[in-house]
Amino acid sequence: MCGIIGYVGSEDALSIIREGLANLEYRGYDSAGTALCGETVDVYKRKGELSALEGVLPSSSTATTGIGHTRWSTHGEPTDANAHPHTNESGDVAVVHNGIIENYDELKAELEARGHTFASETDTEVVPHLVEEELESGRSLVDAVSAVVDRLAGSYALGVVAAGHEGVVATRNGNPLVLGHAEDGTFLASDVPAFVEHTRRVSYPEDGDVIHITREGATVYADGEEVDREVIEVDWDAEAAEKGGYEHYMLKEIHEQPRALRQTISGRIDEVQGEADLEIDLPTEYLNSLEEIQFVACGTSYHAALYAAKLLEEYADVRASAEIASEYEFDGGRDPWRTLVVAVTQSGETADTLSALRRAKRAGARTLAVTNTLGSTVTREVDDTVFIRAGPEIGVAATKTFCSQVATLALLSVYVGRERGAMSSGDARELLSDLRGLPGAVQQVLDREEQVRVAAEEYADGDAFFFIGRRLGAPVALEGALKLKEISYDHAEGFPAGELKHGPLALVTSETPVLAVLTEGSNADETLNNVKEVESRGAPVIGCASLSVDAEKYVDEVFEVPELGELESLVANVYFQLFSYHVANLKGRSIDKPRNLAKSVTVG
Ligand code: F6R
Repeated sequence: MCGIIGYVGSEDALSIIREGLANLEYRGYDSAGTALCGETVDVYKRKGELSALEGVLPSSSTATTGIGHTRWSTHGEPTDANAHPHTNESGDVAVVHNGIIENYDELKAELEARGHTFASETDTEVVPHLVEEELESGRSLVDAVSAVVDRLAGSYALGVVAAGHEGVVATRNGNPLVLGHAEDGTFLASDVPAFVEHTRRVSYPEDGDVIHITREGATVYADGEEVDREVIEVDWDAEAAEKGGYEHYMLKEIHEQPRALRQTISGRIDEVQGEADLEIDLPTEYLNSLEEIQFVACGTSYHAALYAAKLLEEYADVRASAEIASEYEFDGGRDPWRTLVVAVTQSGETADTLSALRRAKRAGARTLAVTNTLGSTVTREVDDTVFIRAGPEIGVAATKTFCSQVATLALLSVYVGRERGAMSSGDARELLSDLRGLPGAVQQVLDREEQVRVAAEEYADGDAFFFIGRRLGAPVALEGALKLKEISYDHAEGFPAGELKHGPLALVTSETPVLAVLTEGSNADETLNNVKEVESRGAPVIGCASLSVDAEKYVDEVFEVPELGELESLVANVYFQLFSYHVANLKGRSIDKPRNLAKSVTVG
């Protein structure tokens, strides 16, 4: 996720872009930049937070047209060169982009063959070069961008300026873009907060629209024809707008999961061949000789690793385990040459995970990182990295990163399983098709939020909360309990359902709600036996149950889980996120910054 902004009007574009970027910083903060446009295009950009950009911006400018960008890297580390805007070689076309251009490799090779040279590692940089070629053939900026868009695969929102061409041209496909219509000018942005101080009159272009913003306003074209897009008035204050209208970042991030997941899987699934492409190249001989995959991780990332270990054992025919990073030793007679150690860490900076990784490296094992953060410490220390592409997560409680981690690790299980010849193309196609269905299934759960809120109201006063599940439901039970305890401060415990009768059952009363995972891949029939055990002690039970499980007659409340094979338990987790959020919200907790916790734990 990145933030883009553009302005054309009668005011000073520099101040407007600067202010807009500050309002959009929640969308990405590893680099930022702007292009101010008149007879020339002047680009200023820097790695790091906005304060770093401030250091290179001119103190004033006469430009009244500009574009800006705040970046959360997906292609290329956060560096000055990779920061947006990107330009062609002569610097007279500049582009800001939010999204992923999937065919950039191919386009880049083609452009290089025609003599273009590139200054960054980004997917975006192909766009100004392609626009340049179209302009050279005599097209207007609108026609040039329209022609380029026909060549792009992937998802994007783009803002383009070119020296000597009036205004900004923008377009979108699958990524957000909103126009703001003020008295003194017109805005484009990824999100309303970028310009909400200037106007609340907004319109939303549709996918495929090409928009020309000039001093006169915005003209929108669809398939080359001018179209009207309704202008509406939004009723947000600036602070709420930054959270997309949600009360907390956590809730916003829970709702961002379908989009984050689309980014996670974008360009990585080949359903025809039954293959996953994670942009890594582990030698097939190495994968074939592997005896074990060890995941090292903490907290929520550890739960994602537990889920992944089960998928890998099933599909890749390899011993796989998840280890709590702070407890990790590379021992037990393992052969370092036949052990792959995978660090799962959204921040890439968790001290315990880094020190576990260093232990594995010292022992001689090959290492892989699965992270959300380009340029983070973990990426500099491992042999290979896979990015989960969830976009920045501001709320301390991890939500969308958990979902994107598990989805990425499911892709890893297809990659390793297929390379090792352990997974049939049929099984791979099934899991990949479930992955494709995942964003939609998560959306179906989000659409039932009201049911969860009402249940939260009913059960919020429980003395304690127990989360149970088996197999793929077990890590989700642990994650559900962690989420609830960290933001509501209630006592919550999660465990494999079979463990109930070995101790925790002593704590179960009519005042302790039990939340059970009853999905495919979680041995739901056996868990139902545990549900009966707690019910006979008077405990109220909420079951996250797929349609194939006959849960209704055993539980007090059913949260319906859409059918999605081995990923159903991951979808059930979204109910637990919402339940935790609403219980905590009812209690007025500090949800985005729970007491005693930090987003990134950089001490061991
Ligand atoms: C819980 C949470 C933490 C993190 C843990 C590891 O909501 O966010 O448990 O999962 O601190 O952090 P990363 O993934 O950054 O290594």
